[in-house]
Amino acid sequence: MKDTVQFGVIGCGLMGREFASASMRWLHLAGDIPRPVIVAACDLNEANRRWFERVPECRHFYADYRELLADPDVEAVYCAVPHHLHGRVYADIIRAGKHLLGEKPFGMDLAACRQILDAMAGHPGVFVRCASEFPFYPAVQQMVRWYRQGAFGQIIEARFAIKHSSDMDLNKPINWKRQRAANGDYGCMGDLGIHTQHLPFRLGLHPVAVSAQLANLVKARPGPDGAPVPCETWDNALLLCQGESAAGDRFPMTFEMKRMAPGCTNTVEYEIDGLQMSARFTTDDPNAVYYTQAVGREQAWARLVVGQKTLYPVITGGIFEFGFSDSLLQMFAAFVSELRGLPCEFGCFTPAEALESHRLLTGALRAFEQQRVVPLADV
Ligand SMILES: NC(=O)c1ccc[n+]([C@@H]2O[C@H](COP(=O)([O-])OP(=O)(O)OC[C@H]3O[C@@H](n4cnc5c(N)ncnc54)[C@H](O)[C@@H]3O)[C@@H](O)[C@H]2O)c1
Repeated sequence: MKDTVQFGVIGCGLMGREFASASMRWLHLAGDIPRPVIVAACDLNEANRRWFERVPECRHFYADYRELLADPDVEAVYCAVPHHLHGRVYADIIRAGKHLLGEKPFGMDLAACRQILDAMAGHPGVFVRCASEFPFYPAVQQMVRWYRQGAFGQIIEARFAIKHSSDMDLNKPINWKRQRAANGDYGCMGDLGIHTQHLPFRLGLHPVAVSAQLANLVKARPGPDGAPVPCETWDNALLLCQGESAAGDRFPMTFEMKRMAPGCTNTVEYEIDGLQMSARFTTDDPNAVYYTQAVGREQAWARLVVGQKTLYPVITGGIFEFGFSDSLLQMFAAFVSELRGLPCEFGCFTPAEALESHRLLTGALRAFEQQRVVPLADV
């Protein structure tokens, strides 16, 4: 495929580099999907910016993102900066007429998300999506297919979780994700929420009311000089919602976002229980999806190994296992495909879904503060 999409990257940290790596791995995709070519990189931090000198086609380096936005070589931007910058920077990207793949939570709060949507309203030709890679695991896509075929029947309950344990190390140094000024009031919910929401929202499983339990377990962490610095954000969040499906089923729906979950390393878990069938996925067993089979009047859990049966075919044989960086490659392929109007069976998280995410998280903050169930129609 000769077509390419010329990208600028704003934010050359952890995720900026993941995108650079995925763009260099395009050969892995078996189909003709336009390749993202990173031509420009922007970061305030010189060392992070210079890391992009490793990217062969990257030729423009900026400390000010507005200079990158004025660069006529840049058609689209992948932006991975701290949350307090999302509202302003994403809106500026859109107003500059550049397509945008932004990062979660797509605005530090509801107001910032609306600021991005307002910019979109004035620039309808700009294609905008938010990154979220876990639904691209082939085992999750198998759940999607079953759901769309109506295999679950009436929904009994649904559970979506992401759990980390690195914060269990009380000596882990402070960073911006653990400070309210850059991470906002959501804390772990802003950092982790979209990973739990992309799948249900896309399936039409929506929370209509929320109650919340939030915990700030670690109040201080070592700063750059080792002295304790306030660690102000929520570490763990458990949201119990009333869920509603497109078919009108009402059911309990939980969203768990935890930085302090013993033994977990970015463990994502999805489970949908239905009267006819139930299914669950965990990144602890990323190659497989578990589902129930009826045995008379009982249900037996079966484990189906899915392998590399990806949405966008890859050169790797179907029998081999799938992992995190594979999911990022699939997600970037989905973004570029949708941008170019090519087939896209399951796209990246949309701005409308991001708005729903913000209404849920804002409702959860209110629910915890007021110790009540908050109808999301009120948020
Ligand atoms: N999709 C995922 O799985 C995933 C994982 C981690 C983080 N994220 C998201 O990615 C985003 C970035 O997180 P990260 O982990 O890469 O953070 P990071 O701290 O590693 O990188 C952020 C970069 O932004 C730069 N930066 C800060 N202000 C800037 C400015 N004004 N102009 C240009 N650059 C600036 C910093 O110097 C840093 O290099 C966040 O929104 C986060 O939630 C997504």
